[in-house]
Amino acid sequence: MIVVVIGNQWGDEGKGRVIDNWGEQVSYFVRVQGGANAGHSVIVGGKKIVLHLVPSGVTYHQAHCFLGNDMVIDPMALIKEIDDLSAAEAYNCKSLGISPLAHLVMPYCLELEKLREKARDKNAIGTTGRGIGPTYEMRARRLGIRVEHLRHLDIMPEYVKTILNELNPEIRHWGGKTFTQKDILDFLEKVAAYLVPMIVKTPISATICAAEARGENVLIEGAQGLALDLTHGTYPFVTSSSTIAGGACSGAGIGPTMIKKVIGVTKAYCTRVGAGPFPTKINGELAAKIQERGKEFGATTGRPRDVGWVDATQLAHAARINGLTGLVITKGDVLQGIEPQICTHYVYQGRKITNFDELDCCELFKAEPVYETLAGFTEDISGCRKFNDLPKGAQELFSKIQKYSGVPILAISVGPERHQIIIMRDLWQ
Ligand code: GDP
Ligand code: IMO
Ligand code: MG
Repeated sequence: MIVVVIGNQWGDEGKGRVIDNWGEQVSYFVRVQGGANAGHSVIVGGKKIVLHLVPSGVTYHQAHCFLGNDMVIDPMALIKEIDDLSAAEAYNCKSLGISPLAHLVMPYCLELEKLREKARDKNAIGTTGRGIGPTYEMRARRLGIRVEHLRHLDIMPEYVKTILNELNPEIRHWGGKTFTQKDILDFLEKVAAYLVPMIVKTPISATICAAEARGENVLIEGAQGLALDLTHGTYPFVTSSSTIAGGACSGAGIGPTMIKKVIGVTKAYCTRVGAGPFPTKINGELAAKIQERGKEFGATTGRPRDVGWVDATQLAHAARINGLTGLVITKGDVLQGIEPQICTHYVYQGRKITNFDELDCCELFKAEPVYETLAGFTEDISGCRKFNDLPKGAQELFSKIQKYSGVPILAISVGPERHQIIIMRDLWQ
């Protein structure tokens, strides 16, 4: 069975934790898009690992892990991540393969992003600084460097010359450090020695389709979340890839009919890091309390995440765009002793808005959220393993999230550790 797990909000919903939870029965884990902008945390036996490029199934001995077609891979970041995982004794998977179709985040992409974000000043997007935007831009410009290019270093001098002819003037314009052809060719030679042996021999597409035909399980791991999607997110305050379930088809090389289930991950509240509209954002002491309790600091950049309430318009949007078949709700435990609110709809210029995508990005900045206030709960729920063990207030919170998203709950995570979860349905049935 092929299952896709994606984020329903602005990222950091707990996708890594959720993927890790179902890892035992998975033969192939595939990251499909994005790059080291992602930070997916997995905690096993008190030991925390944060994955940026490597799929969250890396700790499982029976699994193969793939970096998929639509990813943008910073080779230096990947080498460091593999070293760190090995040092933490967490690099246990059978193999780690890279798609030849993925693109490389090149040093000039990192440099350009830094310069452009600085120049945009207060209009900056607040990117993660991992070279994501410029790398996808070079891909669309048909001047990107794919992983497969590392097998053809002989043709690279001409290609690199063309790239630098176009990019160095811009770097110079912003007062940055320009690159010579030799800089880049040396870089490619160095990373080729490491990465070429990791390029998959059989296309990821063929491998996972064959595994599916044999009745094995494949878990596709999305990065970021729907509201950061290049098309369906709050453009231009988005990332540069397709973060929706549909994007997984290209990133893994499968047709839509191959996907059996699409699982959306949702926090019991909401967070956002970086610039852009966040209609249900809250401020002050309560926000600080949730931020501290939920440890809402970026797993990649360490930046504090803004905090707000769950937004029913956003969940219904995520359910529709992704064709969600199941919901996993995380971090409800953080709301112990806090009166939770759910935004049921917005009011914009006197109109009731129930569809997130009815308003454009400029309008979302001015949308007024309308809330339903729930009773909440005072008990610690992190030890609960059955829905019926939960206090009534927690049951109400999760049931409302289910109702507003229109998607059945698959599981409720009540803590960051692998076993801290209430399983409502069997994923593999
Ligand atoms: P991802 O990017 O979607 O994988 O999420 P991150 O790893 O960036 O952020 C989620 C954070 O919440 C991590 O620190 C997780 O360890 C933590 N976490 C995940 N699920 C739960 C939960 O149910 N309760 C609590 N308290 N923490 C959780
Ligand atoms: P995971 O997979 C949260 C945000 C950045 C910025 C915008 C564009 O851990 O959920 P980029 O570097 O991609 O060009 O930045 O997207 N962003 C994320 N926010 N979680 C992420 O990943 C994110 N990846 C990018 O903060 O607002
Ligand atoms: Mg994250």
